[in-house]
Amino acid sequence: MPAPSNMHPGPNLSLTPEHEMIRQTARDFAQREIAPVAGHFDETGEFPAETIRKMGALGLMGIEIPEEYGGAGMDTLAYVLALEEISKADAAHGTIMSVNNSLFCYGIYRFGSEPQKEKYLRPVASGQAIGAYSLTEPMSGSDAGTMRSRAERQGDVYVLNGRKSWVTSAPVADYIVVFLMTDPEKKHRGITAFLVETDRPGFIRGKKEPKLGIRASATSEIVFEDYRCPVENRLGEEGEGFKIAMAVLDAGRIGIAAQALGIAEASYEAALQYAREREAFGQKIGQFQGISFKLADMKTRIEASRLLIYQAALAKERAKTTGERFTLEAAMAKLFASETAMFCAHAAVQIHGGMGYSRELPIERYFRDAKITEIYEGTSEIQRLVISRMELGLR
Ligand code: CAA
Repeated sequence: MPAPSNMHPGPNLSLTPEHEMIRQTARDFAQREIAPVAGHFDETGEFPAETIRKMGALGLMGIEIPEEYGGAGMDTLAYVLALEEISKADAAHGTIMSVNNSLFCYGIYRFGSEPQKEKYLRPVASGQAIGAYSLTEPMSGSDAGTMRSRAERQGDVYVLNGRKSWVTSAPVADYIVVFLMTDPEKKHRGITAFLVETDRPGFIRGKKEPKLGIRASATSEIVFEDYRCPVENRLGEEGEGFKIAMAVLDAGRIGIAAQALGIAEASYEAALQYAREREAFGQKIGQFQGISFKLADMKTRIEASRLLIYQAALAKERAKTTGERFTLEAAMAKLFASETAMFCAHAAVQIHGGMGYSRELPIERYFRDAKITEIYEGTSEIQRLVISRMELGLR
């Protein structure tokens, strides 16, 4: 394990003993149980079911969900602290954890009915079942409001048809929140959210997506062929789906920012150690400004990302009582942290030279894993769109 850099406690946030405890628990678990197997799961693309099950037992799969619904009953800061530590050991575990916590549990807790929380939230938050979220389609990614999948009401069921793509955890998920068109005339106001059980007829797992990075996180298409979804499994009202999707993504983006921070830190710590040890032209390579200035930029961007993430986590926490949106804070944290992850992973490969390109070290994995953080849950371009529209008062 690389020697740590000078760890900052972060801004003066007065972390409680519970925050310190969950951070330490996640760090110990990640370094003991995940880091040693991360390379294997990256190589094989297998889903790391056993470590995910253990994370559930530690309370890491539903951190912000109250204990009465199977969660750990902690706050958003606890969530980002833990997710950062898990992702530092392996970003793929971070993806699975983030989607389960933010995109599934947060959505059901905030928008679900009492029976939905009892039936679907409890098993997923406690780590006994896996949850997923499905918005994207082959022909609709950034422009999420233009989806083609349809849900048609027939008495007390909706009949679902269509194809969704890039669904994180779909190959293993028990339950998925899916967004489909109920009234195409109304465009984004005609989208509705549904809670889908994956063991029912009409639900088909489609092709697995072959990916550059986060290879242990299972991703596939899903197909609906006359899937009959009971009306009581509609999440929110008809036509509210787009707003639910966006509000849930606000939470998800904070998770991806924390994941990106973990990747950036892993890259930085490895590069720092290498720069302290590796010699060239009669001195440690860290003594060359070409290397040391890279380290300075990495460190500065990491600490700036941390501040933006903590700010977003606090905004999300406040929103639990005020109901205010934290869209801006989440988008800024995700934008900056994901670009920092890519910057740091790129620099770490360069500092390691040939060894950075070798599959004998995890550096090339950090580089492959970092890229997705600039793409999923809204590309960097979409984050810039969201931030600038809000600043200009266009939305
Ligand atoms: N919270 C609540 N409501 C919101 C909102 C938010 N964050 N953002 C927008 N809305 C509301 C608006 O107020 C508006 O409401 P009205 O209908 O009352 O006017 C409505 O939603 C439509 O908003 P816009 O006009 O801004 O919509 P748009 O079509 O211009 O799109 C967008 C906005 C920001 C580009 C949005 O489409 C978007 O975020 N796209 C990216 C999608 C994305 O992140 N996809 C990732 C999928 S998940 C994933 O990656 C897979 C995985 O498993 C990890």
